[in-house]
Amino acid sequence: MIQALLRDGVVGRAVTAGLIEVGVHDLRDFTDDRHRTVDDVPYGGGPGMVLKPEPFFRAVAAIRRENGRPDVVALLSPQGQVFRHERASRLSHHAHVVLLCGRYEGFDERIRLALATEEISIGDYVLSGGELAAAVVVDAVARLLPGVVGDAESVAQESFVDGVLDYPHYTRPAEIDGLGVPEVLRSGHHGEIQRWRRREALRRTRDRRPDLLEHAPLDAEARRWLNELEDEPSGSSDREQSDECD
Ligand code: ADE
Repeated sequence: MIQALLRDGVVGRAVTAGLIEVGVHDLRDFTDDRHRTVDDVPYGGGPGMVLKPEPFFRAVAAIRRENGRPDVVALLSPQGQVFRHERASRLSHHAHVVLLCGRYEGFDERIRLALATEEISIGDYVLSGGELAAAVVVDAVARLLPGVVGDAESVAQESFVDGVLDYPHYTRPAEIDGLGVPEVLRSGHHGEIQRWRRREALRRTRDRRPDLLEHAPLDAEARRWLNELEDEPSGSSDREQSDECD
């Protein structure tokens, strides 16, 4: 799972260019029985298996011996705080981050207690393992590092960086299937274009993720626009976005 991430795309190029290093460690290499067992039945009974502590303790000790003490040891599990831009940004300032991935029903609690400095969930659903979650974290963090994404400006402007969603983008052709491009984007008026983009980003955020506006740093102009938008029905410029199934 992780090899694909490291071979292709933005992360793959960053690895090839030596901008980041990602080590992958197999917990089975840190077992001492013939079957290379990493899980066991839960104390107290119940369904499923629990990941044994020893392979994790040994793996982290080996990483420490080889690369020094990590700045962060993050356990990936649905019990963690949900991963957001702020945490990706914080992790991008650490030189050495260890991500612990689990399978099965869960981790022996002592892995949490003794090794983890934090716990990360990538969303309120259960994956069959932490590897995909780790890949998500590596990708989101790597692209914030200098030089990983070619156009630093595009990273600086994208969703969440300033606490709101991204504005709508258009490229050629100027019309397809009767759908045009907002006139202002073709006007060449840089100031007008910037204002339109900020306003549309706010409109989208208000329609789709109003929770973000509670924490977004909004200047007086943004607050005024939001007040003006109150007079417009929510989602008026947008196809309905809904989480609900019909
Ligand atoms: N492992 C299983 N489900 C997960 C999730 N939602 N986030 C992080 N790690 C996980």
